[in-house]
Amino acid sequence: MSRIAYVNGRYVPLREAEVHIEDRGYQFADGVYEVMGFVGGRLVDEGPHLDRLDRSLRELSIAWPMARRALQLVMRELIRRNTLADGMLYLQITRGVARREHAFPAGVTPSLVMTVRRARPVPADVRAKGAAVVTIPDIRWQRCDIKSVSLLPNVLGKQIARQGGAYEAWMVDADGRVTEGTSTNAWIVTKDGELVTRNLENAILSGITRAAVLHLAVGAGLKVGERPFTVAEAKAAREAFLTSTTSYVLPVVSIDGQKIADGRPGQVTLALHHAYLQAMACHSDDRRKDGYRWGNQIPRSARDNGARGDNGAGAPK
Ligand code: PDD
Repeated sequence: MSRIAYVNGRYVPLREAEVHIEDRGYQFADGVYEVMGFVGGRLVDEGPHLDRLDRSLRELSIAWPMARRALQLVMRELIRRNTLADGMLYLQITRGVARREHAFPAGVTPSLVMTVRRARPVPADVRAKGAAVVTIPDIRWQRCDIKSVSLLPNVLGKQIARQGGAYEAWMVDADGRVTEGTSTNAWIVTKDGELVTRNLENAILSGITRAAVLHLAVGAGLKVGERPFTVAEAKAAREAFLTSTTSYVLPVVSIDGQKIADGRPGQVTLALHHAYLQAMACHSDDRRKDGYRWGNQIPRSARDNGARGDNGAGAPK
């Protein structure tokens, strides 16, 4: 069956889906996007994704193309029309179509396009053995908190990774500290068992998977630090991993060709991945009601191995 896309009010076969050549997304990357997973027809963390979309739009003074509730209906209808139960939804909103001029045009209507596709899992060998990562300078702008379609440094970075036989590139700021991956958030488990990921600020995207994994870890009583870490710290870590909507929780087993610990996926990482998969199957609203208590699913062995000390979150019974 051919795939169906949504383009500015119409459901059309993907092959026929078109946007105007003077769309500002095309000419200026003047737009934002979201990638959401769905499992059994239900969108994973739909609320947090739409909240982030709202923030990205507000930061760029782009209006919602329709009410949030209407957008949710379109997302569901597109999934239904593609007869997919599990997959990924891509949605993009740009400032709209106007004669090319840098300043915001007056009276434009934002453009909205949406596609869905089958989930493309991480290659089986990378999932089983863990990912190799290379480090590169972070050459992006100072508003990486906005989920903008302007992704050229990310594209170039991912290509450097692939050409070097790696799965991801971790970008490094001027102080030698890891910001994030080109399409993922970066994490380590230190020798002391502290789970560390960079704090939210303009230098990184506020990953929805990052937030879910943080809740999960805190709920399980892991010691968690939201702070920058250096490349040297990462190379000396007990474990490393990355997170995203499409990669879930993926072990990182080498950085710049240097093995992390024994070069095999870490126990905390695997436990978090397992717990995340289970949690993903739940509806986000159920999860919220549950106060993200699904963190309790992390096996005690991983918790004991991964972290000591009290982060004040209260360990599960
Ligand atoms: N990428 N950092 C960057 C730069 C990203 O592009 C992404 C997501 C993430 C992880 O965010 P989340 O957990 O919300 O997926 C972090 C998406 C998947 C993409 O561009 O395809």
